[in-house]
Amino acid sequence: MTKRILLIVGGGIAAYKCLELVRRARDKGIAVRCVMTAAAQQFVTPLSFGSLTNDTVYTDLFSLNDEAEIGHIRLSREADLAVIAPATADLLAKLANGVADSLAGAVLLATDKPVLAAPAMNPRMWSHPATKRNVAQLAADGVRFVGPNSGEMAESGEAGEGRMAEPAEILAAIEDMISGPKPLAGKRVLITSGPTHEPIDPVRYIANRSSGKQGHAIAAAAAAAGAEVTLVSGPVTIPDPAGVTVVPVETARQMLAAVEETLPADIAICAAAVADWRPDTEGAQKMKKDGTSAAPGLTLVENPDILRTLAQHHTLRPAIVVGFAAETETVIDHAKAKLARKGCDLIVANDVSHSTGVMGGDRNSVHLVTPDGVESWEDMDKTEVARRLVAHVAANLEGHHKKKAAKPRRKGPKKTTTKSSR
Ligand code: CTP
Repeated sequence: MTKRILLIVGGGIAAYKCLELVRRARDKGIAVRCVMTAAAQQFVTPLSFGSLTNDTVYTDLFSLNDEAEIGHIRLSREADLAVIAPATADLLAKLANGVADSLAGAVLLATDKPVLAAPAMNPRMWSHPATKRNVAQLAADGVRFVGPNSGEMAESGEAGEGRMAEPAEILAAIEDMISGPKPLAGKRVLITSGPTHEPIDPVRYIANRSSGKQGHAIAAAAAAAGAEVTLVSGPVTIPDPAGVTVVPVETARQMLAAVEETLPADIAICAAAVADWRPDTEGAQKMKKDGTSAAPGLTLVENPDILRTLAQHHTLRPAIVVGFAAETETVIDHAKAKLARKGCDLIVANDVSHSTGVMGGDRNSVHLVTPDGVESWEDMDKTEVARRLVAHVAANLEGHHKKKAAKPRRKGPKKTTTKSSR
């Protein structure tokens, strides 16, 4: 069923960002209906919100038309969630005190649905004891907050805490609040992401073009599905996903150590582009040209295989182990071989040839390779790949537990495995 939010737009410069919020929410299939305060209309017009929501924008408590059409009580109940953005100091004060002298105030007082507020105001207003009191009261009343963030203020050249959370952050909070039961609640998920850097000397290293976008998106999706997520990430320039424990590492060996430290886990997803080789020694000082001798040769040694270590772990193998296959040719065949070689349950194969733009880009086109066959997904945003992959893995985990529960227990003495028989 389509989820619906009631977006109450307050009067702040950040109101324009809510246009993007509406667009993003509708892209995700969430219907949006808007209420605008009088002050909000000083910043953005109802026509803009009306065009983007494809719905009437409600502005007036005493409008005969609006009341006849829907009425403020129904308006407040016909959504799954009420979102106040930007939540100005004034709107927060009114809601904290039950003031219903405007349509926004009346709707918020009449709603029986959860409320999310994205505060935006000058840093001094945000830190004022009156605002703090109101926010504490609203939190005690069950209102959830997203942001504010720190940064430059648009209007005054001032900086500090008070910037409205970005549309993507608000949308993540909305999705979290309107989603049904969380399929990975209580599960531990371990994810590797990004490249590794293998040092040659103190200033040089071997690396690859991985941006970490796909792995980080999977971590965010797993957290949104209710999992306790540890993201072991090589050096990346993208922000940490919200609600995730991030362990930053540089080299493959550090990544392996961090992964082993994180076990046990129910699910492991290895999305990192781990460097296969590292220089056999790391120079203590920067290597210098001396103008006469030939260029130094690099001797490489193989790095530990983190995915294989997890998939073939004798005592702490996660129930589901997923690997990626970054290929530039015969993608499916290579992925099938990798699935067998590594001993994992699923390989997400993608073509990372330069022409595909996958490495560093926002979109991905993947094939899910399992011992049962190949499932190819159409080209989509990496966040959507992440969401679907997490849903797929969560369903597999449930299947895994059911199979395990149904398996009859073996009678007789336990067989012991000696090292030589492995
Ligand atoms: N991987 C890993 N540790 C390594 C190398 C790879 O954990 N030392 C994982 C990656 O995170 C990915 C999968 O193994 O999930 C496949 O990585 P890829 O680089 O495509 O394959 P390789 O193992 O390097 O094999 P090849 O060189 O034949 O492509």
